[in-house]
Amino acid sequence: MIGEFDPKMSFSTNILEAGAYFRDPATNPEQLPIHLATAHNAEDLDDLQKRYDEKGFCYNRYRNPNRSALNELINYIEGNENTETVCFGSGMGAICASVIANTKAGDHIVSGDTLYGESVEIFTNILGKYGVDVTFVDFTDLDAIKAAVKPNTTLFYGETVANPVIAVPDIHAISEIAHANNAILIIDNTFMTGALCKPLSLGVDIVVNSLTKFYNGHSDATAGSATGRPELIKKVFGMQQLMGNQAAPFDSWLVCRAVRTLELRVKKQSDNATALAAAIEKLPYIKAVYHPSLESCPQHDLATKQFNGHYGPMFSVILPEEAECPDWKERMNKFMRTLKLCHYAMTLGGYRTTMSYPPMSSHSDLTREQRYAMGITDGLLRFSVGIEDTNDLINDFTNALEAAYGDLRK
Ligand SMILES: Cc1ncc(COP(=O)(O)O)c(C=O)c1O
Repeated sequence: MIGEFDPKMSFSTNILEAGAYFRDPATNPEQLPIHLATAHNAEDLDDLQKRYDEKGFCYNRYRNPNRSALNELINYIEGNENTETVCFGSGMGAICASVIANTKAGDHIVSGDTLYGESVEIFTNILGKYGVDVTFVDFTDLDAIKAAVKPNTTLFYGETVANPVIAVPDIHAISEIAHANNAILIIDNTFMTGALCKPLSLGVDIVVNSLTKFYNGHSDATAGSATGRPELIKKVFGMQQLMGNQAAPFDSWLVCRAVRTLELRVKKQSDNATALAAAIEKLPYIKAVYHPSLESCPQHDLATKQFNGHYGPMFSVILPEEAECPDWKERMNKFMRTLKLCHYAMTLGGYRTTMSYPPMSSHSDLTREQRYAMGITDGLLRFSVGIEDTNDLINDFTNALEAAYGDLRK
């Protein structure tokens, strides 16, 4: 049996108990062992049927004890007693299966226009080939969303926080538009996690996550999840059986272990991002800082309500560009090299602060004009803030910015 939790207990306690261990009297381990077996022996035909009926174990591609533990743990965090979760080998696995299981030829999708680049590719390069059409709109503009709806719209798709301009869509309002049009809403919660935002409680039908990022938080496992009502997740699980993109036992075990400290990490990361964004915004040569904690964020009040007083660990900065200084690139390189506590990495969500340059990674396939239309200008750097001491981080960033741009002070 996989771990139990008491609904009367608080989130901080239950996150340690949900999906925690098998109560196996013979060994009773304090931590769930890693089950690498590809198959589990059944006693006879009745036993096999029982395993099918009770979601027991027979073949790893269908179910595995470590993956089932992770399913239960993520379901506790993202969902409730009326939902189910299925975990994948990556966030993209979860997104592909959830979208493909819920669309068919002739359907139309309304999608946010600043998604993770590979989510855009599923809509355009994959689903387009199978007769599914997509319209990309600004998900912070409810009128634009309504105007994009067609008679064959069956799916709405967005992210809790739009990457990398860190804009916040009104998830509840979008779910109402989706449901009024007999469509479902899928939201990618990777940037916030269920510790800061619970999209299902805002009316979302399926919430997907890249567990590779903040959920795991240690930059050493790749996994994803999809959570929603059983009738929707049954279709997603069926798709997973065929795609064969399940979360591996070891990665499931690693993510389960890391998730016990999710709340501690993500709240600290979020508070660090808030402090850092405020400190950087004050510097005279900074063109813009994008973080929902700032009054300058057009969705600041919505974010306060939607994220329960936290604003998330992701923020972006627009540094001086060609117009301010022709040597903007050298200066950006100098800033990046001078930072001691922030690494330049092709991922996000780890316990250490990292940065990325979207024009050369997530948005490198776009033309400069397309990028600029999305607000992703040449001076934009995106940060995933870690759990370092707040003052150490502020000092490190301020020092590196001064070294690169201090002489531009007006
Ligand atoms: C918002 C978002 N969703 C999904 C993904 C895909 O996750 P994975 O790399 O685990 O497939 C990423 C990856 O960076 C992401 O940033």
